Amino acid sequence: MNILILGSGGRESAFAWKIAQSPKCENLFIAPGNAGTGQYGTNVDLKVTDFAGIKAFALANAIDMVLVGPEEPLVKGIHDFFLADAEIQHIPVIGPQQEAAQLEGSKDFSKEFMQRNNIPTAASKTFTKDTLQEGFDYLATAGLPVVLKADGLAAGKGVLICLTLEEAKLELAEMLTEAKFGDASSKVVIEQFLTGIELSVFVMTDGTNYKILPEAKDYKRIGEGDTGLNTGGMGSVSPVHFADAEFMAKVEQRVIIPTVEGLKKEGIPYKGFIFIGLMNTHGEPWVIEYNCRMGDPETESVMPRIESDFVDLLEGVAEGNLNEKNITISDKTAVTVVCVAGGYPGEYLKNKAISGIENVRGSHVFHAGTTLNGEEVLATGGRVLAITTLQDDMFTALQQATADAARIYYDGVYFRKDIGFDLL
Ligand code: AMP
Ligand code: GLY
Repeated sequence: MNILILGSGGRESAFAWKIAQSPKCENLFIAPGNAGTGQYGTNVDLKVTDFAGIKAFALANAIDMVLVGPEEPLVKGIHDFFLADAEIQHIPVIGPQQEAAQLEGSKDFSKEFMQRNNIPTAASKTFTKDTLQEGFDYLATAGLPVVLKADGLAAGKGVLICLTLEEAKLELAEMLTEAKFGDASSKVVIEQFLTGIELSVFVMTDGTNYKILPEAKDYKRIGEGDTGLNTGGMGSVSPVHFADAEFMAKVEQRVIIPTVEGLKKEGIPYKGFIFIGLMNTHGEPWVIEYNCRMGDPETESVMPRIESDFVDLLEGVAEGNLNEKNITISDKTAVTVVCVAGGYPGEYLKNKAISGIENVRGSHVFHAGTTLNGEEVLATGGRVLAITTLQDDMFTALQQATADAARIYYDGVYFRKDIGFDLL
């Protein structure tokens, strides 16, 4: 098969690394890819939202499958674009159509979906600028802290946890009447605050059948000890010990099955990944959010634990016979430590030359925000490299990934030295 992956981050590097190992994959292309993805296939200079360009490339290169990494092309309808065009509708797209991508693209849509399908989630209500006063009244009864969420995509910045009623009212007004997050905050979901410990659960589905992929824990804050600003993710660990068989059985029964069945019952086709952000509250799962794609940097820890042929699983999604496929998962521990640019997640340093990748011995280096400049590899994005190791035991894995991250150098390099140590 000829496979095209859309995206350019660590997630897409991990997909490419895994897919390149499949005997079913003849030619692999990554659009646009990064300085590392050329190890696994051919980079293609196309934006993930250039649908016409992607169509032309797919036709010219006899592409048999398109795997979509990030949410943006899904929310903008790339899957629908393929289905609506007679020349390319035979090419399966892995990733949901626009309507189902609303599970990520609209918090209001996803909360209503969960409520209709009795999926455990924090109590919430949605407000617009016309119902601002009702929003204030609701806040007064909601308890503290309270969570405000911009309805639309806000690059991971649209969630505010407010500790006082005054702060919550001020933020709600700014979001609704001053477009604090642009269009994304023209609707705001006010939600009850959940306590517990978070994890990410991943499902792949053909719309009827599903497979549960390895779960992972993501470290979102920039600072050690989970302090400071939120980032795209500073590291990940899989498996997550508190997601034991009993907890995962609850997740499957109360969340995964009702989600897949709910989509089907509501006539919403879904072929792709469902990323379920969960809070484990005293052993009970609560859904914080859905994403319509895999996580980053979770994918970098999830892919190495999948022993089966990933392309075979993707074919199951495309063809609707995922139930006939097998998934084997390693019981080793994968740990990913992300090296970021100096200054990230604020304004960050760019175009710094990277050295030391060749000194990494016990881990795999997945490129994220990197660009080739002749022979030189430059750090051009906020999250630069994801250093992943797979080891028999967790302690060795944590030490190895952290030690290997320290072998990377560029001006301003930063990584968290405590990824996963809280789980020991
Ligand atoms: P989201 O964009 O929905 O994933 O929210 C971003 C982060 O905010 C989550 O990863 C949680 O850490 C936190 N968060 C979101 N909703 C809640 C909630 N209801 N209670 C507590 N924390 C939350
Ligand atoms: N690591 C969180 C995400 O991919 O959204």
